[in-house]
Amino acid sequence: MKNKILITGASGFIGSHLVEEALKQGFEVYAGIRRSSNKQFLQDERIHFLELDFSSKNILQQQLTAFKHLNANLDFVIHNAGITQANNKEGFFKVNCGYTQNLVEALQGSEMQLQKFVLISSLAAYGPGNAESFAPIELWQKQKPISTYGKSKLCAEEFVKSANIFPYIVINPTAVYGPRDKDFLAFVKLINNKIEPYIGTNKQMVSMIYVKDLTKAVISLLHKNCSNRSYIVSDGNDYDKEELGAAVKSILHKKTFKIKIPATPLRIVIAMVEKIYQLSSGKLPFLNIEKVNEISSSNWLCDSKQLWDDLSFSPQYSLKEGMTETMKWYKENNWL
Ligand SMILES: NC(=O)c1ccc[n+]([C@@H]2O[C@H](COP(=O)([O-])OP(=O)(O)OC[C@H]3O[C@@H](n4cnc5c(N)ncnc54)[C@H](OP(=O)(O)O)[C@@H]3O)[C@@H](O)[C@H]2O)c1
Repeated sequence: MKNKILITGASGFIGSHLVEEALKQGFEVYAGIRRSSNKQFLQDERIHFLELDFSSKNILQQQLTAFKHLNANLDFVIHNAGITQANNKEGFFKVNCGYTQNLVEALQGSEMQLQKFVLISSLAAYGPGNAESFAPIELWQKQKPISTYGKSKLCAEEFVKSANIFPYIVINPTAVYGPRDKDFLAFVKLINNKIEPYIGTNKQMVSMIYVKDLTKAVISLLHKNCSNRSYIVSDGNDYDKEELGAAVKSILHKKTFKIKIPATPLRIVIAMVEKIYQLSSGKLPFLNIEKVNEISSSNWLCDSKQLWDDLSFSPQYSLKEGMTETMKWYKENNWL
């Protein structure tokens, strides 16, 4: 009999790839979505759907109990639903931390006997590494997120670890790129228009992971003898920020005009815009001071050796291969 897995946030970028990889590895997949979710990336006929309301622990528990009566026990849950943008700071904590808490408690209340509960957190929950030594962020080090997003992800991690209700794994992926991703697309579109922008004039080092390597790693961990621990995920390489632009340029055969926006004046402008935007709309603008601080941090290198050692395989995609597949997908789907 196939193991049953629930993947929340299944309609999104990483979630839809997790669904595909879980199907590939032989799971009976339940895509956790909400009524408003777009199912364009969930077209495989083998996918079962489960509408969930994370905002209420009681409703969620009723939904999971009803599911259990109809379909039997869930063996695995990957809680991937989350937000990287919010109208206000409370929104991050409500969705990323509060909804995780509701889900864990509702799973317990509905008496699911999980083999593993996986939380998709983020490297942002660690905060950037040392800006002078450029030492990679390590699993053991104290987590010091600098954004509300990172703090809300850490809050979810702390809840899952301290609740200790199910065997758990926390996944801390670095920046993820690949088909269906809209965040990196903005940068690619600018390069396609011959503009190559960077925030800050100083050296900046980053880590990356191609979405298919991330999802293969996460699904493969489910049957491994490891639990109650975290894993940092990257492809293991260190990239200068301009290497990303160079890779995109060479794939798109573009010559660009490089713009390096000094971080300090940009921060002053963004802080003013944020204040005005908040006063007039009550909302946080997409490019806010926290976001600028996070994306312009000098050191986002990380050490993912433990993950690949435990999995006994390596990431399959180089930056060039992953980017080539991504650009091809963007073009085929008229995103570029
Ligand atoms: N992308 C990255 O580089 C990256 C890096 C590290 C960690 N992560 C983490 O990976 C996870 C997935 O990110 P992503 O990049 O794939 O984002 P995404 O494309 O925006 O997908 C987010 C998913 O979460 C669901 N969701 C959001 N708010 C929800 C709510 N209130 N109730 C129920 N479902 C909700 C969305 O459902 P709808 O479709 O209905 O909106 C969507 O399926 C997140 O937890 C994020 O923090 C992402």
